[in-house]
Amino acid sequence: MAQLIGGLGTSHIPAIGGAIHKGLQQDPYWAPFFNGYPPVQQWLAQQKPDVVVMFYNDHGLNFFLDKMPTFAVGAAPQYHNADEGWGIPTLPPFQGEVDLSWQIINHLVDKEFDVTTCQEMLVDHACTLPLKLFWPEGDCPVTVVPVCINTVQFPLPKASRVYAFGKAVGEAIQAWDSSKKVAVVASGGLSHQLEGERAGHINKKFDLQFMESLVSNPEWATQFSVHELVEKTGTQGVELLMWLAMRAALTTAGSGVRKVHSNYHIPISNTATGLIALETVA
Ligand code: DHB
Ligand code: FE
Repeated sequence: MAQLIGGLGTSHIPAIGGAIHKGLQQDPYWAPFFNGYPPVQQWLAQQKPDVVVMFYNDHGLNFFLDKMPTFAVGAAPQYHNADEGWGIPTLPPFQGEVDLSWQIINHLVDKEFDVTTCQEMLVDHACTLPLKLFWPEGDCPVTVVPVCINTVQFPLPKASRVYAFGKAVGEAIQAWDSSKKVAVVASGGLSHQLEGERAGHINKKFDLQFMESLVSNPEWATQFSVHELVEKTGTQGVELLMWLAMRAALTTAGSGVRKVHSNYHIPISNTATGLIALETVA
């Protein structure tokens, strides 16, 4: 059976792609952000996962406001990145893991999550930047199963529903008949709001409490409604639902998690940036 080795969470601000392209990692503005990643890169170099299941939200590249699935799973042999208008250079295509995609889709539908299946799918900065942050050198060494959760257009799925969804994805990974090592990644958040009267809204207290809850009390955030999460973390801060899905997937792997590393820095662009790496404990 496949081995679920752990989970990672990271913010995904498009400007990160520009900073990587320009080599600004040690610039004073960027260093507190980028310096969070080497311990996680080292852990990944030791663990050597073969596959990443990526929880993220598409921002209008593959799904636009006219067609917005709540949950969508990629089942393509390759995923192309395309220009989304942020001025970040596009990356070469990412390799899919079609067998695991269908394993996850079949299990989710069996568990009454009626997902959209995507045999062609463009991936935006939210899918590509975590992979570049975790494996900055050379070609991406893992295959990918992109899993989209709508946090862009209301109605959004409830935190408790996202938690159950993540758990079902974890069960599917555990039951996958493969000798491969799998890591789950959450892309998004933490608190931020890009538009309107509260543009620039950041809630450090909530973000840190949320990150801590992922280690010790994973269901903590399911007590909040989506509107409460938006109120606390901003209209885009609700992307932290991805982290909840990631953590829920890990509950299927054993008795708990060990925190490998975390980082929190305010702000990059208008956003509070977070990073976490959790290892499953058998
Ligand atoms: C920013 C953050 C996001 O999550 C995003 O998808 C786009 C932009 C930002 O802070 O600039
Ligand atoms: Fe985003």
